Amino acid sequence: MPLPDFEISSQHLQSWIEECFSFARRGEVASYIPALRSVPKGILGVAICDLNGEIVEAGDSDYNFTLQSISKVMTLLLALEDHGPYAVFKRVGMEPTGDPFNSIVKLETLKPSKPLNPMINAGAIAVCDLVNGRTADEKFQRIVDFVKRLANTSEIILDSDVYNSEMDTGHRNRALAYFLKDVDVIRGDVEDTLEIYYRQCALKVTCRDLAFIGAALANDGQVPGNGEQIVKPEYCRIAKAFMVTCGLYDGSGEFAIKVGIPAKSGVSGGILASVPHEFGIGVIGPALDDKGNSIAGVKLLERISNHWNLSIF
Ligand code: DON
Repeated sequence: MPLPDFEISSQHLQSWIEECFSFARRGEVASYIPALRSVPKGILGVAICDLNGEIVEAGDSDYNFTLQSISKVMTLLLALEDHGPYAVFKRVGMEPTGDPFNSIVKLETLKPSKPLNPMINAGAIAVCDLVNGRTADEKFQRIVDFVKRLANTSEIILDSDVYNSEMDTGHRNRALAYFLKDVDVIRGDVEDTLEIYYRQCALKVTCRDLAFIGAALANDGQVPGNGEQIVKPEYCRIAKAFMVTCGLYDGSGEFAIKVGIPAKSGVSGGILASVPHEFGIGVIGPALDDKGNSIAGVKLLERISNHWNLSIF
């Protein structure tokens, strides 16, 4: 069934998937996380969810992949719900970096020393430390429950291979986290905080889940279809602003010009996008560009945005 306002049908989406598929060959899957090396490049899927919770989808929309950096949006929202913006922005800034997502360089050179924003790894690790809970397990469980509510599903589980793979090899994140502990941005136990971060990155989702989360953000924090308010509208506004300025890291400027939709990418090749007051979009395409963003996924979003004139600018 097409989504009525835009007459989006899965046939539309399928024809764009066929158009964009060739771009997947130009990228590489993330190899710095060993468990992601074996992911096939030839996957491309999309789902769109409107504010009534109606979904259209095409391609590999039911393929399971890990959230990776997309999880940073949800944990930020939960930390904002737990503590409010004043406390959160004492620990992380509001500015884009223009640097890669795992960069260390500005942590020491900027004073006061705090991550520039919550979408880079350093900022996201600091935000994990802020989530309420007595133990790492309790904090992580709160994150999972929150993602489930936003995605309107009970089926979000951990990919333990990806989690173990990052826990074993994520030395750069470990370095970032210990630095943040030294400068008092992380207050809790560093290893616990890293465990929460790697677990949230390894949560498995589909395009449908991302589309639903994007629609909840587009709907100012109300669940599409049932109207339950899960997140305050002002926190959704903050999240969408970060998605515009930092959601695709040092590729955010080009994405804003070519696509113009608040979005957040992850190194598994997923992209969460949210068209304010219209709908959410979830995309998967595991082959990445050199900035860590899905090549075919970005092309697909560009196609969708241009066809319906969705740029917010
Ligand atoms: O910490 C990491 O490196 C990964 N778990 C997440 C990085 C990521 O997804 C960056 N996205 N483009």
